[in-house]
Amino acid sequence: MFNNTHFPRAKKFWYMGKLYKWNHPNIHVMSHALHYGTSVFEGIRAYKTSKGPAVFRLPEHVDRFFHSASILSMEVPYSKEEIIEAIKSVIKENKFESAYIRPLLFYSFGNLGLVPKFSPVELTIGAWKWGAYLGEKTEKGANVYISPWKRIHHSQLKMTAKLGGVYVQSTICGMEARSLGYDEAVFLNLEGNIAEGPGENIFIIKEGVLKTNDKTESVLEGITRASVLEMAKNLGIETRIEPMTKEDFLEADEIFFTGTAVEIAPVIRVADGSNPQVEKKEYTIGSGKVGGITQKLAKTFNDAVRGNIKEYEKWLSHVYD
Ligand SMILES: Cc1ncc(COP(=O)(O)O)c(C=O)c1O
Repeated sequence: MFNNTHFPRAKKFWYMGKLYKWNHPNIHVMSHALHYGTSVFEGIRAYKTSKGPAVFRLPEHVDRFFHSASILSMEVPYSKEEIIEAIKSVIKENKFESAYIRPLLFYSFGNLGLVPKFSPVELTIGAWKWGAYLGEKTEKGANVYISPWKRIHHSQLKMTAKLGGVYVQSTICGMEARSLGYDEAVFLNLEGNIAEGPGENIFIIKEGVLKTNDKTESVLEGITRASVLEMAKNLGIETRIEPMTKEDFLEADEIFFTGTAVEIAPVIRVADGSNPQVEKKEYTIGSGKVGGITQKLAKTFNDAVRGNIKEYEKWLSHVYD
């Protein structure tokens, strides 16, 4: 019934307290979230370590999940501790050594007025094997497209929340970038500065200084972003949090994306399609090869998430005690 090509090795998912076989259908097609995007979600990764699978920054992800739920006035039907245990049970039941984990809270079946007064909030958690989000470009460097569509502004919606409906913009612009032959989109914000990717934060490096923006620039301040900032400081790299102009971006020595799905992915070419009135222009970033600071941070991150760096073990929640 379902083609599971893009959900490798997923055998069971969790839904309202029970585990179901992956192919078990259990929501009504008139569910509120399906019509209006009234859901909130998390993207979390578990990595293989010498002590079995460990979830990266699990409490922080669950805290953000509750923050997102509060923006949609959802009463979460489970406690944070119960959700943490449920996530671990999904990894155990599927016998994953590493996985991408997707908890979702959504207004379910009840009514289809825009206000989900009679639609209960339900929780489901799925997990599967998901490799590098940008495939081989994670090693080689991505070719990105600055979209003409400006990121939804923080004065319009709370961009610190992972609201299902907000991702319609990410999907449309991600599809547009790919249809034009690029690997990923980049959003400017309404101020005209660099905001973020459809599901990624952005860092730039100029003359050895690492820079990223924050929520005042209409971005989701990612958990990977916070981890990279901490690792960079510990490596003695100067970091700054401030707006990044489009010129800062195009003239950077190095650029990379961060995010749970994308992990750390370098950007080596940029096409500026931000002004639909003029022909888009293409730029090479730095030498056109993955830069040294990006490589250093990516290596540190990849070691940290696998439990190979003692000072970052604090970020891991082991699935088997
Ligand atoms: C819009 C957006 N920005 C940034 C990020 C990066 O956040 P994190 O590192 O917490 O995954 C994500 C992914 O969750 C995202 O969807």
